[in-house]
Amino acid sequence: MAAQTKSAQEYYDKFWPENVQNHAQTRKYVFQTVSGRAYSHALDAGCGPGICSVALAELAERVTAIDISPKSIETARKQAHALGHPDIEFSVGDLQDLAIPGDQFDLVWCWGVATDAQDPVKVINTLFRVTRPGGELYLGIYLKTWLSPIHQLVRHVCQRYMETPRRKKWVLDGFAALTRVLVAIRGSEINTRADNISIQTQVDDWYYAPHKTFYSIGETIRLFRQNGFEAECIQDRVGRMRSATIFVIKGVKR
Ligand SMILES: C[S@@+](CC[C@H](N)C(=O)[O-])C[C@H]1O[C@@H](n2cnc3c(N)ncnc32)[C@H](O)[C@@H]1O
Repeated sequence: MAAQTKSAQEYYDKFWPENVQNHAQTRKYVFQTVSGRAYSHALDAGCGPGICSVALAELAERVTAIDISPKSIETARKQAHALGHPDIEFSVGDLQDLAIPGDQFDLVWCWGVATDAQDPVKVINTLFRVTRPGGELYLGIYLKTWLSPIHQLVRHVCQRYMETPRRKKWVLDGFAALTRVLVAIRGSEINTRADNISIQTQVDDWYYAPHKTFYSIGETIRLFRQNGFEAECIQDRVGRMRSATIFVIKGVKR
């Protein structure tokens, strides 16, 4: 495993066991996003703490969930048991290089994962390969905006110079305080997430995760089409901060 990929694993090994999202809100979001209600085999690609996997288990007869981080998988197994879905098949794996047969899933869900990997295109190619003809692929990835280079610069500074626990706390608390000021000025909430992750946690995942890559909607749709998928953007800015947002492409394999 490449050194950088290992650090993604190390980061999420620590992050997810401490920051599991709210199940009810995540379930609501998954149900709003996925169009069908009966699938035979779903893949939650990069499942993190497994909250989306549990929602998918209500839509598919069988769910496979994979993540590169063993501690996230451990957390996900516990969540699935606690939420009444012990049959979800969890395993540790690298989506950039996944040795499983192709054309096997009629629902593939990959939310906020490919652009966290060292090589997002390798992850996306795996998703293309494992989706079965007629199957649906929902891909949520980070949107490229004029602010993306600034985010990358801040990420570099945070990871290079602000990584000790004390300095990291300054950064996270500083962003939370800045958010409170902006909320007071605007008179309305701006950065809350329905699934209840704190501002500090959002900033942690945004600036301290080892990789974030940004894509345009157009280039992503072209990639789907070049790989034998019908594709449309079904959500162009999903919640959270508008500058640091995800868009979702739904693809159907021809
Ligand atoms: C931002 S989290 C999203 C987790 C989950 N999809 C969710 O929405 O709750 C990104 C996840 O991608 C996983 N990940 C990053 N690179 C990966 C790779 N190459 N293979 C498998 N999982 C990977 C991380 O371990 C992490 O759990």
